[in-house]
Parts: sequence; C-alpha cells; structure tokens
Amino acid sequence: MKAIPCLLACVALATASARADKFEGLALTPPMGWNTWNTFAGNCNESLVKETAKAMITNGMRDAGYVCIVIDDCWALKERDPNGQLVPDPAKFPGGMKALGDYLHANGFKFGMYGCAGKTTCGGYPGGRGHEFQDARQYASWGVDYFKYDWCDHGTANGPETYRIMSDAIRAAGRPIVFSLCEWGQNKPWLWAEPVGHLWRTTGDIGSTYASGGKNKWEHGWKELLDMNVGLEKYAGPGHWNDPDMLEVGNGSMTLAENRSHFSLWCMLAAPLIAGNDVRSMKPEIHAILTNRDVIAIDQDKLGHEGFRYSADKEKEIWAKELSNKGWAVCILNTGAAPAKITVDLRELTFLTEQYYDVKDVWSGKALSNSVEPKTAVIDSHDVMLLRLTPGS
Ligand code: GLA
Repeated sequence: MKAIPCLLACVALATASARADKFEGLALTPPMGWNTWNTFAGNCNESLVKETAKAMITNGMRDAGYVCIVIDDCWALKERDPNGQLVPDPAKFPGGMKALGDYLHANGFKFGMYGCAGKTTCGGYPGGRGHEFQDARQYASWGVDYFKYDWCDHGTANGPETYRIMSDAIRAAGRPIVFSLCEWGQNKPWLWAEPVGHLWRTTGDIGSTYASGGKNKWEHGWKELLDMNVGLEKYAGPGHWNDPDMLEVGNGSMTLAENRSHFSLWCMLAAPLIAGNDVRSMKPEIHAILTNRDVIAIDQDKLGHEGFRYSADKEKEIWAKELSNKGWAVCILNTGAAPAKITVDLRELTFLTEQYYDVKDVWSGKALSNSVEPKTAVIDSHDVMLLRLTPGS
C-alpha cells in the first residue's frame, strides 16, 4: 500500500529536478552597460542607440566594461501584429531589432531589451502576459543577450510564478540570455529568484537625487535605495545579483560628491552598473567617475561578495566589501549636510583578519600609510573616502 504514494513522490521529485533553471555561467560579475530609460524615457530610438554605442567606443566606456546596451520601454507599437508578435515602432527603429542587434554585436556590445510581465508595460505598450514563449523566441531571433522584465499592470498575478514562466520561456528559446527581474522587490525576489534569473531589482525606481523628493514622486533618492539594501548582501553572488536600480551618475543636479559616492556605493553593493546618462555629451568629471577602473574593479571583483553596512552613526556610515585574495574595500560616507573631519582607525574594524594591510585611497589613486595608522580626512557632505586594503606588511 505504501508503494503508490512513494512512487508518486518519486515521480514528482524527478519532474522537479528535470525542470531546467536559468542559463548558468552568465553574469558571473555584475552586468555592466547602458540603458535608454533614465535620460530618454519614451524617446528611445535607433539613432540614439547607435550614437551611444559610438560614443562608448570613443570615450572608453565599452572597454571599461560597459558592454550591454539596453533598450528600455516604449520601443514597440501599441498593438501586436495579427500573429501576436511584438512590432518594433518603425518610426523609432526603422532598421528593425535584428539589424540593430547585429550592429551592436559587430561593435563589441551585447544587446539588451525590455518587456513587462503584465498586460501592458509601464509606458502602456503590449506586455508579455500570455505571450511569454512567443516573445522569448522573438527576442532570441533578434540576438538579444539581456532581457529586463518589468512588473506594471500585473493585476493579481503571482510574482514568483510569473517570472518562472518567462525564465522557462527564455530557456526554451535556447539562446543564453541574462534575465533581469524588475518587480521592484515587491515579492522579495532575493528569496526565490536565484534559479530563475541573474539579477533582480530590490526596490522601486531610482531618481537623480541623493535623498528622495526628486522630480517624480515614485522615485527614490539613491541614499534611500542604499538603506533598503541593508541586510540583503547574503543573497547576492556570481550569477545572481541584487539590483538597487540603474545608475543616475551624471543626471539631475547632484553634486560631484553625490555622483562620486553614488557610484562608489553601487560598486560596494556589487550592483549591476547600468549607466543612464547621455554619454554623448557628459562632462569630463562624470566620465572620470564612470570609467575609474579601480572603482569598477571593486564592483567586478571575482569573489562576488556584496558589501555590507558595518556601522552608521550621526555623521557617517562605514561600508565594507570583501575582495579576492583577502583584500577589502572600505567606504566611509559623510551623511551629514556639511564637510566633516572624519577619522577611521582600521584596527577597530572587526571583520579584518590580517594584522597589516597596505591601504590605497582609491579615488586619488594614492598609497596611504598602512592600516596601523588611523586614517583622517575632511570628507565633503555626501562624499566618500574609498579605501582598498591589500594584505601587506
Ligand atoms: C519601471 C521600471 C523602470 C523603467 C520603467 C519603464 O518604472 O522600474 O526601470 O523600466 O518602468 O516604463
């Protein structure tokens, strides 16, 4: 009598284990690239994408690692064709998506696209609900390498089930595509999305400000998003990243310090580095932030550990990120409204296990005295001191 339930359980187990998960071996370090949304919103188009690609080659962004160019919302016509296929808006993308993907690939980029799990996208274009397998085949046929899947107009749909369907559809289409879940952290994707996708938004949308209260009421300042990511570090690792949303470096009216600290802290979080400014016309100091190889190296460190907030007091926060070869990045953020003279005695940081470290000030590129000497600096309001520690003598 006991054989039948056992048999059923065994069949169920075998079915579960036969189910394919996401493509493995992708996004072993946090994805890097550029996305149309943060600056251009609904005005994405083919010439913008091509001009951006050219600019990213000339200004060194591609070679610094920003290889994935993502077309966000508003690329399609408002209706699917009679076969149910999505149709790129011919006024915006006259050459079509396959040709644009070929252009990006020929120029050393990867091709990213956007869809939405609901009936319509956030911009009111056709969503993927009920069309997942058809859409995934279409994206694959266009040569898409990275797919962001949004969460507007999802009605009563269940988050984990919905994203699992799209993940299965991508798998079935056969092209290895990085799957970026964009359900704004509403269903705690860090708890269930690792087999389903390669990165997941942990929060609502970013705005181009330090604190909240930017131009759109649903957008958050980056410091608020940073706070929301506290405690999530244990869920990230190679191939599965927390995504605190794309970069606003170079956008809005943030101070240079706020741009620099936004970038530093996204690197401390091992966040995907998806730039969102107009890279055709950015100021040299913004370019210098986005292409600083030593800071990018902290984000892209192969160990794949996300940093954590070690301490927070009235004037400062200390963030720490373990790196390969027993190294550490330590980032001190002045959260106050005025410049502050801040001293950090590295010997008091309880996570450090070596007796001595060589210390580099990452933004200035200068070697400092070793970790035995307390480090003092005047840090501007909302600016950082970013240190890289390497076991030394
Ligand atoms: C949502 C997403 C954004 C962007 C817009 C497009 O708000 O979170 O990143 O993709 O939709 O409409």
